[in-house]
Amino acid sequence: MIKHPIGIFISGRGSNLKSIVDACKEKEYPAEVKVVFSNNKNAPGLSFAKENNLEAITLDYHKFKNTEEYEEKIISLLKPFDLELICLAGYMKILSKKLIGHYPNKIINIHPSLLPKYKGLNTHQRVLENNETKSGCTVHYVNHEMDGGKIILQREVEISAEDTETSVSKKVLKEEHIIYPEAIKLVLTK
Ligand code: GRF
Repeated sequence: MIKHPIGIFISGRGSNLKSIVDACKEKEYPAEVKVVFSNNKNAPGLSFAKENNLEAITLDYHKFKNTEEYEEKIISLLKPFDLELICLAGYMKILSKKLIGHYPNKIINIHPSLLPKYKGLNTHQRVLENNETKSGCTVHYVNHEMDGGKIILQREVEISAEDTETSVSKKVLKEEHIIYPEAIKLVLTK
């Protein structure tokens, strides 16, 4: 089994990072996490990366003049890893066409809603406000439209009247941890 080199971008907790790293430990899984990138040096997910001896890079956006220069630096730092796929996993910075253009069709993201519904932030809150009976998560390609790229995989969860933002988030996250590794496998082996 060829282990394709992938990179994971995070800004926070890193539970999706963990689910991907766990999948990569399987002999038959077609990917290996070569690098973890974070825009936030305090991201808890970075501790997980270090504990698991993963290469981790952090870069503070505020030290750069603009997004273009920031992403140019990211591109140069990632070059040695020859990444075939970049997986955004709770990466809270919108990418510009600089990075997207450098990795055409090679950047994917996970979003905690059934896209195209509920793009953007605070998805669970909006789902509950609208009395939805189901929600879920989506892995999709990243393009110039926020949360608007081609859908790769989705998974649904049911919402009941007793649900809160916390309970919905928990249910959805459980599904995220299943579909993200599945979607990566799909993309790399198609
Ligand atoms: C997840 O809910 C994901 O869908 C969203 O950000 C959250 C990241 O969680 N894009 P984690 O850092 O992977 O735990």
